[in-house]
Amino acid sequence: MTKILAVTNQKGGVGKTTTSVNLAASLAAAAQRVLLVDLDPQGNATMGSGVDKRSLPATVYQVLLGERTITEVRMRSTGGGYDLIPANRELAGAEVEMVEIDRREMRLKEALATVAGEYDFIFIDCPPALNLLTVNGLSAAHAVMIPMQCEYYALEGLSDLVQTIKRVRAHLNPGLEIEGLLRTMYDARNTLAQQVSAQLEEHFGDKVYRTVIPRNVRLAEAPSYGVPALKFDRNSKGAQAYLDLAGEILGRSVPAAA
Ligand SMILES: Nc1ncnc2c1ncn2[C@@H]1O[C@H](COP(=O)(O)OP(=O)(O)OP(=O)(O)O)[C@@H](O)[C@H]1O
Ligand SMILES: [Mg+2]
Repeated sequence: MTKILAVTNQKGGVGKTTTSVNLAASLAAAAQRVLLVDLDPQGNATMGSGVDKRSLPATVYQVLLGERTITEVRMRSTGGGYDLIPANRELAGAEVEMVEIDRREMRLKEALATVAGEYDFIFIDCPPALNLLTVNGLSAAHAVMIPMQCEYYALEGLSDLVQTIKRVRAHLNPGLEIEGLLRTMYDARNTLAQQVSAQLEEHFGDKVYRTVIPRNVRLAEAPSYGVPALKFDRNSKGAQAYLDLAGEILGRSVPAAA
């Protein structure tokens, strides 16, 4: 059974792309077949996967417009050990150009259906907006993974996202669930972070992953080398945290070795 997860939070810079890339790599290291879809015109997941976004013959943009099939656009992240549907700034035009297109919220879902059976996990790295691209991600997904920083405004933003999820569920994707909330860039010495973290657990219970991703500079450095932290510095706290998260998702307490 393929699990399709949209990694979403309309708030920018909360760790969506870092989570998409490192979790994809960690699950691949545990012998899972993984596809990562970059659905953000920033192309950060593409670059972080070791693919140069500036020299791409085709991207997810052509897939959404129906000009290319997903297999024509699919690439391999050799450092990550997973497949990639890349994106670049071209995608910024999609919102406008898709207005004329039929079933425009379902384009990604329909495209992924053709390859879903080849994968155990498909991750969709969404842009920091609740726009048509994100709606495509939410329509295509079985569940939503929400990375968030434990700061004051985080909870406020969360209610907007939960509203959007409810709307998508009502109109486009009745089965959409919240897979989990992931605490990212966590600093255990910060009192506010501890309080927000406790509130999250109170409100969302076991929807909050037990694994917490610490603030770790190796996670920030790895993308400039086009590899996941796992390849850059396997023993770093950041790489280990994403391996733990992969283990948690696979329903084990100890993640599999690479
Ligand atoms: N756990 C972490 N420790 C240290 N730095 C991190 C961590 N997670 C992410 N970062 C850094 O924080 C910045 C934002 O992370 P990331 O790009 O993953 O967020 P995002 O939610 O995808 O952003 P955007 O909304 O722009 O797409 C990046 O520079 C990234 O390298
Ligand atoms: Mg991002």
